[in-house]
Amino acid sequence: MKKITLFISFISISCFAQQTPIKPTGLVVTKAMVVSAREEASKIGVDIMKKGGNAFDAMVGTELALAVAFPFAGNIGGGGFMVYRKANGEVGSIDYREKAPLAATKDMFLDKDGNVIKGKSTETALAIGIPGTVAGVFAVHKKLGKLPMSEILKPVIALAEKGVIVTEKQERSMNAYRGAIVKINGPKTLLATEFKKNDTIKYLALAETLKRILKNGRDEFYKGKTAKILVDYLQKRGGIITMKDLAKYEAKWRKPLQFDYKDLKITSMSPPSSGGICLAQILKMIEPYDLAQMGHNTPEAIQVIVEAERRAYADRSQFLGDPDFVKIPVKALLDDAYLKDRMSTFNVEKASLSSEIKEGKVNYNESLETTHYSIVDADGNAVAATTTINDGYGSKYYCDELGFFLNNEMDDFSAKPGSPNMFGLVGNEANSIAPQKRMLSSMTPTIVEKDGKLFMVLGSPGGSTIITTVLQAILNVREYNLSMQEAVNAPRFHHQWLPDLITFEPDTFSPKTIDSLKAKGYLINEKATPVIGKLDAILVLPNNSLEGGADFRGDDTAVGF
Ligand code: GLY
Repeated sequence: MKKITLFISFISISCFAQQTPIKPTGLVVTKAMVVSAREEASKIGVDIMKKGGNAFDAMVGTELALAVAFPFAGNIGGGGFMVYRKANGEVGSIDYREKAPLAATKDMFLDKDGNVIKGKSTETALAIGIPGTVAGVFAVHKKLGKLPMSEILKPVIALAEKGVIVTEKQERSMNAYRGAIVKINGPKTLLATEFKKNDTIKYLALAETLKRILKNGRDEFYKGKTAKILVDYLQKRGGIITMKDLAKYEAKWRKPLQFDYKDLKITSMSPPSSGGICLAQILKMIEPYDLAQMGHNTPEAIQVIVEAERRAYADRSQFLGDPDFVKIPVKALLDDAYLKDRMSTFNVEKASLSSEIKEGKVNYNESLETTHYSIVDADGNAVAATTTINDGYGSKYYCDELGFFLNNEMDDFSAKPGSPNMFGLVGNEANSIAPQKRMLSSMTPTIVEKDGKLFMVLGSPGGSTIITTVLQAILNVREYNLSMQEAVNAPRFHHQWLPDLITFEPDTFSPKTIDSLKAKGYLINEKATPVIGKLDAILVLPNNSLEGGADFRGDDTAVGF
């Protein structure tokens, strides 16, 4: 019933909605806000800002609180990216993405005949990349934070000790993954217990790890007792991460990617995330088309967006990887003439075929589960951060002694050119495995300015669908005048070049829309499809209040004051 209501309310969106002011429908506050995957984490971030901390202190608190309250994707065993915009307009970003261990090799997931060994890059200890989250939050705090680390960490540790109440959705997710978690960690592991809705889970081992980090700083994770326990745990299970790997890990400040879409200035993540470049390519390819006139989620609008997505993801596959290892033709990929030419083969009467779309010719010599949170503080500093252990509960390797799951991010490398990873994404040489290299990501933490002022902070989990989820939220606000919460709620679709299929969220698009696309030759993913993305976003309203958009697809919650 909820789905039907949602659908009817969206088909009635006028194509001329752009002219009326946005009416907020999400939580509205006047000063500061955090929107994240769990209320407990949003609240810790907001409490830090109430105590005088800024958005960066809140970032550290929220990131670590998600590691406690949302072990499905929140982590200290994974990595992520943060994009920021300070109140004075200065922008920046940090890359705390995992890296391949020194002993990693290009063919480590292939058999002797050169074929990908199923599951080796996702379900074995070799799937685990060197975690970057602890280095990331300490680097953010050192450069941009205000409060002492102890004031930020204490409430997180208290949450882990007091415990977190299981929600209905969490009970479902734990039921779905319990078998895989127990298979790897045995029946005594914390999440082997059949926790039910309203039970409280105490994360005592994680609390102890966080206490040691509080006492000894970031080096506790990379050089101290925690590092030693972790390496011992991994090596006993066939992993290859060493003390040297951990000691060498550094988060990296990177120049974010900036581009314009109509009257918006968009700042997003540069490589090794593909998010910013793909988002920029898609938005620039669709800019000449009057999407507002075509109407929200109409076959005509879907067609334009899908064709741009198809072409951008083809380029992603060929050119993108870790910029510390491969030269990425960023300028050429974002060149107006190049992108215009890419869309010149688009025929409104007929679907393009991905088999006929290759990467463009440019001159150069590159569960979908993750979690995103958005923060704005009372001074107007903004943080968009996306963090992941890749799959739900990562590799499922859970170090009981340390109390956290390890990622399976090595699967985000291209194990073999042209062979799809768990998201069906294919990659090439630019994203091949090499020691110390970062695997290509789709994470798209994004900040949007309008008229030189902060306008929107957003991002999403969803593997390959992250980029198209963020794209649709921007379009929903800019082209269709939806409130932040409506823009988050709106049904979504996705195309990623290969497989050559449009995926729609279940039961949200009308058969008429889908039939009309089929008639033009579009191939539709007819399988039972999951939700696409879980957006957590903040919109700055004309009176400078903040509207939260927290995704109902998860337990996501906006908190503010
Ligand atoms: N692991 C998902 C991503 O980084 O895109």
